[in-house]
Amino acid sequence: MKNGKFITFEGTDGSGKTTQIKLLEEYLKNKGYEVVLSREPGGTKVSELIRDLILDPANTEIDPLTEMILYAASRAQHIAQIIKPSIEAGKIVICDRFVDSSYAYQGFGRGIDLRLIADVNRVAIDGISPDITFFLDIDPETAIKRRINATGADRIEQEKLDFHKRVYEGYKKMSLLFPDRIMTIDAEKPMDEISSQINEYIDTIL
Ligand code: TYD
Repeated sequence: MKNGKFITFEGTDGSGKTTQIKLLEEYLKNKGYEVVLSREPGGTKVSELIRDLILDPANTEIDPLTEMILYAASRAQHIAQIIKPSIEAGKIVICDRFVDSSYAYQGFGRGIDLRLIADVNRVAIDGISPDITFFLDIDPETAIKRRINATGADRIEQEKLDFHKRVYEGYKKMSLLFPDRIMTIDAEKPMDEISSQINEYIDTIL
């Protein structure tokens, strides 16, 4: 098996992940790496269908357990169809969100048992875990306002501020639990400073 890499980005809604992911993609492509960009929930046709189901504001009746399993189902398809084959082909996969989002949102946010989330996702991820995760750390109140003003709110974004604060605290806890994998980035800094910090770190692992 060739030595691909798996890089994930995490953070509350509106933390600026999308911008940083595009900058990193450009940086790596300029260096000649083969890069695969993806996102969760989504990344494949089936996963995007599940995404539409989960995020549709009309689906108010979705139960938290159903929600957690749907995210994992979308992930299983994504792993099988895109992430695993790309890593095995030696590519660099950059993914907007991964299992940490399920711990943060369904675990800390909705209150689902973290062990249950781990068990369900163990089946979904088929032994794949990120080499490095960038947690874009920004005050959730600032971030969610920024996001909703820009695009309108999906079902998860419509959750109350308390929910987003729990999600944020969850990310903080996970970054302390896994300091070797999760790198916390101050997302209130200027865009180019954040990008340089990410690139510098990436250079050390490639
Ligand atoms: P998205 O529009 O991609 O949000 P963002 O740009 O902030 O990443 O929507 C994904 C939403 O799904 C986001 O609110 C986080 C949530 N989510 C979970 O609750 N659990 C998960 O496992 C994943 C992957 C995402």
